[in-house]
Amino acid sequence: MNKTFLNKITEADCIEKIPKLDNDSLDLLLSDIPYGISLDDWDVLHGNTNSALLGSSPAQQGKSGFKRRGKPINGWSQSDRNIGIEYQKWCQQWASLVYPKMKPGSFAFVFGARRTIHRVINAFEDTGFLLKDLLAWKKGSAHHRAQRVSIVMERRGLESEARKWEGWRLGNLAPIWEPIAWFMKPYTIGGTITDNILAHEVGALNIGACQVNGVSPTNLLEFSFQRSEGRLHEAQKPVELIKYLIKLTTRENQIVLDPFMGSGTTAVAARALKRNFIGFESHKEYCKLANKRAKASPSATKSKPAKKSQKSLF
Ligand SMILES: C[S@@+](CC[C@H](N)C(=O)[O-])C[C@H]1O[C@@H](n2cnc3c(N)ncnc32)[C@H](O)[C@@H]1O
Repeated sequence: MNKTFLNKITEADCIEKIPKLDNDSLDLLLSDIPYGISLDDWDVLHGNTNSALLGSSPAQQGKSGFKRRGKPINGWSQSDRNIGIEYQKWCQQWASLVYPKMKPGSFAFVFGARRTIHRVINAFEDTGFLLKDLLAWKKGSAHHRAQRVSIVMERRGLESEARKWEGWRLGNLAPIWEPIAWFMKPYTIGGTITDNILAHEVGALNIGACQVNGVSPTNLLEFSFQRSEGRLHEAQKPVELIKYLIKLTTRENQIVLDPFMGSGTTAVAARALKRNFIGFESHKEYCKLANKRAKASPSATKSKPAKKSQKSLF
């Protein structure tokens, strides 16, 4: 087994490193990928420079990604509309590299944004994956960032209009859920899913270990952060949510790939469940943090290298 990338987070652009993994070797892809909504510098995956996105004007300097996003995209220009198309191309670029590395019949969970997840689904389908379901992660709480129309009117000195628009807001409803697209790599031609499980040990769900209050789980996943987790990354996910998805679809010592590790949540969850992991993260500081968190993760014993029961692993 080539252990170069195993059980560590490698600081790299995953697009350069994924081709180095062995074919048919991965048991699960689980990743909270960039969303294509310009949430932060790492989330700008387009060449559009006409929207004041993440600019460095005095009003934007020193602000978090969210505040530096500039004017909302209004769809007036073709380059605004191309953002989604460019994002989809980028998704397809790395998805087509991951595809051959995954075992036949294995699953992929891809976290995305409500506004752009359709692009991820198109990219994955065009690559060859099958969409199995769209899961919803329901968060513990959500901020309602919506400006009051009456206040905007008042600022313009429009008192009677402000009263008329009392109670109305600009924006969205409080975003309480996030989408997780669930895919499967088609299993071997001519065989059944049971043959595939026997050959590759993927493609089944451990419902017995994932009961919620004694009943079978639904596709609405309700998980909040533990107090001890801290706020380490703008797009951090709860460890318990990631553990749940890993436990649902993999066995001990199998290999989970997360090419966009961020603060290392997937690595923490994988280690805690005695799964092996492979991670990439292009941001130096996040990569350091992710490796630190992974090492500190309370794994009962170290994961064994995955069994070489099927084709080549590493
Ligand atoms: C949505 S965040 C992941 C957050 C993670 N779920 C957590 O709990 O911390 C995506 C991460 O992907 C990283 N990233 C973006 N493009 C990358 C690339 N081409 N290769 C590797 N990492 C990349 C970003 O730096 C960012 O930290």
